[in-house]
Amino acid sequence: MKTLDHVDVTGKRVFVRVDFNVPLDKKDGRVADDARMKAVLPTLRKIMDQGGKAVLASHLGRPKGKVVPEMSLAPVARHLSDMLGRDVPLAPDCIGPQVHAMVQALPAGGVLLLENLRFHPEEEKNDPGFSKELASLADVYVNDAFAVSHRAHASVHGITQHVAVCAAGYQLAKEVAYFKKSVEAPERPLAVVIGGAKVSTKIGVLQNLIPRVDLLVIGGAMANTFLKAQGFRVGKSLVEDDLLATANELLQLAKDRGVRVLLPIDVVVAPALESGSQAKTVGVDAVPEDAGIFDVGDRTLHAVKEALQGCATIVWNGPLGAFETPPFEKGTFALAAFLGDSKALTVIGGGDSASAVKKAGAAQKVSYVSTGGGAFLEMMEGKMLPGIEALKACMGKE
Ligand code: 3PG
Repeated sequence: MKTLDHVDVTGKRVFVRVDFNVPLDKKDGRVADDARMKAVLPTLRKIMDQGGKAVLASHLGRPKGKVVPEMSLAPVARHLSDMLGRDVPLAPDCIGPQVHAMVQALPAGGVLLLENLRFHPEEEKNDPGFSKELASLADVYVNDAFAVSHRAHASVHGITQHVAVCAAGYQLAKEVAYFKKSVEAPERPLAVVIGGAKVSTKIGVLQNLIPRVDLLVIGGAMANTFLKAQGFRVGKSLVEDDLLATANELLQLAKDRGVRVLLPIDVVVAPALESGSQAKTVGVDAVPEDAGIFDVGDRTLHAVKEALQGCATIVWNGPLGAFETPPFEKGTFALAAFLGDSKALTVIGGGDSASAVKKAGAAQKVSYVSTGGGAFLEMMEGKMLPGIEALKACMGKE
């Protein structure tokens, strides 16, 4: 993929689609987690150092095509100014004469942040006129927003048809490279750990990955559906009863492909998903009728670690338990810590898993934490991401 290394941006207006859809602190409105901002700093520094004019565009939240003041990128502009050690002004909009004037006035090496793209309904509609307006701010278009590249939106998709020169930002290139190394052409054995609440959101991922992996670990509430499908009684646990047959089909697919599957063998149960709830660990054949499953047990963790020990590549998406509600965090944090200490190539994707490795203090120790949530999942489903496809098409026409 052509990256910024292949483009001379000196004196050029470089429109960079970033994903600054970051959480804001509920009390003071400041940026609460700047991982996605840190991730694009190498791209921004390269443009600044080469004397380009960086015009940054992002969405924040889902304002549904209207101006919602709480979803202004103003706190992000302030935070970015602190990170870069220079003033990053926020334009009052992302298109229009005033924005053009601000871009025009940008000095070489300067950085400008445009206001929330999704204040315009045309952004999510991939509107050609709006795409063209955005493109009129660009001599070079850079996509460094992997996390939104599964959306065919104007700033991700349509714009690429109206600019002459396109390139991938370093972060996007890194995401694609890690996906290749971990899923497309991994060093084997390859293990995938899938957790989270629902099987329904992961069916595509499981269908695509089962034929590729050597070991599949299933945890989180979605494991309850698999356990019930296997004939275990799961009490009051969250279960998708309409997917029992699908769960068995997926297990059969794994069997046919010779893939080892690890389901929980013991679980932490409690009367309710409440902080400090009376929890106990039981075998999966002894879940009380009046309790729900909220985490994996120690024997399961031991078996999972033992199986993962021999793997060269481990991909993890989705928590093993309700880790935000103590005492049900143990399984997820233990896995995060294990991955941090592992010698394998460890790739973590999805908002919850990323937050868990961070809370467990393992974010700097694993090989890679993807910035993508939905985009990471779609990639694992084997889907083409519209933003990446459009970028490649644009590069191809140069
Ligand atoms: C994300 O947070 O996953 C991306 O920024 C995409 O946001 P969206 O789901 O609102 O399109």
